[in-house]
Amino acid sequence: MHEATIVVDLHSSLALMSEALQKAEEHATAGQLALELMHEIRNPLEAVGNLTYLAQEEAENPEAVRAYLRHAEEQLATLNSIASRTLGFARASDSPQQVRLATLAEAALRIHQRTMQSKQIHLVKDLPDDLVAEVYTTEILQVLSNLIVNSIDALPREGTLYLRLKKRRSEIHFVVADNGHGIPEEHRNRVFEPFFTTKNSAGTGLGLALSKRIVEHNRGKISLRSSIRPGRTGTTFKISLPT
Ligand SMILES: Nc1ncnc2c1ncn2[C@@H]1O[C@H](COP(=O)(O)OP(=O)(O)O)[C@@H](O)[C@H]1O
Ligand SMILES: [Mg+2]
Repeated sequence: MHEATIVVDLHSSLALMSEALQKAEEHATAGQLALELMHEIRNPLEAVGNLTYLAQEEAENPEAVRAYLRHAEEQLATLNSIASRTLGFARASDSPQQVRLATLAEAALRIHQRTMQSKQIHLVKDLPDDLVAEVYTTEILQVLSNLIVNSIDALPREGTLYLRLKKRRSEIHFVVADNGHGIPEEHRNRVFEPFFTTKNSAGTGLGLALSKRIVEHNRGKISLRSSIRPGRTGTTFKISLPT
């Protein structure tokens, strides 16, 4: 075979291979998302099943039935917000939009309102109204939601969640912080790895890996600081976005 032909052949098989790799990666992401989704809906679904069963068992006792239904309603609201979040993410590949970041933060908080209430989490917000960035809206919503869930998980009852937004030169900083149990030093480098979790079967270890990917897709950076010093434990995630 002529050398030039070999080079052309090599080029086209390289192109084919990188296309296949890209496809594989997209499938992996979809698979990871599906996994995370299944994981998230399993508990509330099971709870709804149990609660309707219990309600039937106690059909003679309207007080009890009402209480079970109220719980079932809460679980359904959770399922609902998971569904809208996931749909939002699936549709996220359109173009970036100029958006008021405070609006995104409020939307992310709404998704977790009930969990925060049930854990009596204090919320400290500093979200100036006039900060705007060009981002893939549903993607950044997903990231904020992931960070908020992690903070809620790390917080004790009546712990504090901080959500701050500020402008620093040509960047906007989004800060999600908590005074929860903190991340030990030996884990700090690993938390962005896919499947790294300290939550056993309750975690997928995908939240931060996906979040990092998304932030980079939005031309931003994500970093963390954490302390496990007794009396002053807590974790701060900072997302920097270009304006
Ligand atoms: N705010 C936080 N406080 C303490 N630990 C955290 C916090 N956020 C993340 N982590 C640690 O990072 C790990 C990975 O987080 P993540 O990728 O969201 O996966 P998952 O939440 O499913 O475990 C968590 O299991 C936890 O150990
Ligand atoms: Mg998580």
